Formats: sequence, C-alpha cells, structure tokens
Amino acid sequence: MSDKRRPFFGRPVSTSRPAEKTTAPAPAPASAPAPSRPEAAAAEHRFPARDARYRLDDVVLPDPVREGVSAVLAKLNHRRTLYDHWGLRRIDPYGGKAVLNFYGPPGTGKSMLAEAVAERLGQPIIEVNYAEVESKYVGETPKNITAAFKSATDQGAALFFDEADSILGKRMTQVTQASDHSVNVSRAVMLKQLDAHDGVVLFATNLAKNIDGAFVRRILYHIEVPAPDREGRRLLFEKLMPPELPGRDTVDLDALADASEGLVGGEIKNIIIIAATLAVQRRGDERVVRDADLLKALERVAQARREVGSFTGLGD
Ligand SMILES: Nc1ncnc2c1ncn2[C@@H]1O[C@H](COP(=O)(O)OP(=O)(O)O)[C@@H](O)[C@H]1O
Ligand SMILES: [Mg+2]
Repeated sequence: MSDKRRPFFGRPVSTSRPAEKTTAPAPAPASAPAPSRPEAAAAEHRFPARDARYRLDDVVLPDPVREGVSAVLAKLNHRRTLYDHWGLRRIDPYGGKAVLNFYGPPGTGKSMLAEAVAERLGQPIIEVNYAEVESKYVGETPKNITAAFKSATDQGAALFFDEADSILGKRMTQVTQASDHSVNVSRAVMLKQLDAHDGVVLFATNLAKNIDGAFVRRILYHIEVPAPDREGRRLLFEKLMPPELPGRDTVDLDALADASEGLVGGEIKNIIIIAATLAVQRRGDERVVRDADLLKALERVAQARREVGSFTGLGD
C-alpha cells in the first residue's frame, strides 16, 4: 500500500506522518472561498480533526462485542459496493448510513472504541462532547451541530458525538417550555445532517433505551460496551500498566481481578495511577509498585464509587 490510504469517504488521508496532524486543523482546500466574517473563520476551526490515539487491539472487549465491531467494520468498508453499486439502497434506504451508537456504563471504553474504529477506517476523528456543546453554547446548539458535520466533511474525518444521550432521546410531543422546543430543534437539525452526511458518525451514550425512533432507524448498529467481567478486568490491569512501570511484572493480576469486581476500565486506570503515585514517593528498592499499593488504590476507588454511586472519571 502506498503512503496515502484512501478512506472510503472524503479525501485521501496521509498516514505517513501522523504526528503533524494532531494539532493543526487540516488546511482549507485552495478553492474554498475565504470566510467572509470572523465568526465563520472561528466556526471552521471549532472542530479540528486529529489522528485516532487508539487501535482496536488497545481496547479490552468481550469476544462477542469484538466480533460485532468487526462485522460492522466489514459492512462499512463495503458500504459503497453494497448500497451504491449492488442496489441495496432500494430495499434498505437507511442501511447505507454509517452511523453507530456505542452504549454502556461510563468508563467502559466507548470513547476509546470510537477512536479505534476511526483508526481502522483510516480516518482522523472529530470528537464533539455533545453534553458540553449543549450546555456551553445555549441556543447555538443547532449551529454547532451543522458546523461539526461540515468540519467532518471538509477534513474527511469520522464524526464522534460523545455523551450524546440527550440528543438521541425521545422527542417531546407536548412542548411546554422554550428549552423543550430548542431540544426538538436540535434533534431536527441532527436528523437532517445525518441524512445528508456521507461519512461515518459515531455516538456514545449511556443508555440504549429511550432512543427516539427516528434515530433508531438511522443508526446502523447499536453496540453494547459492557462493564468488564473478571477476565476483562485482569486484562485491563495487564494492558493498562505501562511496560516501564517498575514492579509491574511481579503484580498478582488474579488477586486484582478478584478484588475489582464491579469496577470498569476507567477506574482500573485510576487505580494504576494512584498506586504508581504511592510508589514513586518511596526511595531505593522500595520505589516499585507492589500489590499493596494497587489494593490500597483499589479500595479508594471502590469507596469513591460507593459514595458517588457510579464511575466518575475525570478528564476523559
Ligand atoms: N475496554 C477498555 N479497554 C482498555 N482501556 C479501557 C477500557 N475501558 C476503559 N479504559 C481506560 O479508561 C479510560 C476511559 O475510558 P473511556 O473510553 O473514556 O470510557 P467511556 O467513553 O466508556 O466513558 C480509557 O482512556 C482507558 O485508559
Ligand atoms: Mg467517554
């Protein structure tokens, strides 16, 4: 394969120098008209694409979920052939849409998985925290949705709406407040953009239920990303402890897997960070991560969950 991989949507994406693309937004095509207002210029850069940071192998998933994701990727890869050339669009008008929804509890790897899918498709990703857009830019949500889709098209990027529960939820039929009305307007805009968009759109939500029928029809697959079982937690401890971490090879993974029942990947990550922070404060031969550090960290994280009720990851 040459150093240009052709994504099946949008323009070719160079994969030869990934580091350069992480910060700078893609330059506008030479033929694009200059934005007439400063506001338009700002909108151009509000959703810059970046390279995906994870690969599918990085994500710990139960086998059925991994197989489900592979099946979806196969369908996405052959989407053009199936729907445009083999006529499947005639019998399945929405089936050619490349819209996926990952659902499951917080901290189980949905955001990671979205990046891994983009990576596998050879596309950069635009990550939009939907909840943030809705709360930060009150009244501007529809404009932001439209701008995000445009950015994705311009940059040949997969578009990922994280924390998208509120937009995918049931539309309100009895609109009583101005805020209800604006939610309905945002949903109408989202539906319109999804129908017109020729690219991959990913959503992450916590709940599968209560999704508006109009979205259900347009979403190609709903993929559950569950909390890890014992084997999953063992693998998470193993994968998330960096090879450089002193002491990692003497850690009792089975004991950690047993002790972490009910915890998710995001929490296991936090346990490792806390344990490493405990170890780094010691001197000499003692300056290695031990089971005792990990179990102490685990107890803290488990306690936090008991108090708050669910995973509260920071900074993901
Ligand atoms: N299934 C998983 N495989 C590998 N790492 C995971 C997994 N789930 C969570 N993690 C770790 O926890 C962090 C937060 O996960 P994230 O993808 O943001 O979860 P979610 O989007 O479901 O809330 C990740 O960056 C990763 O370090
Ligand atoms: Mg997330």
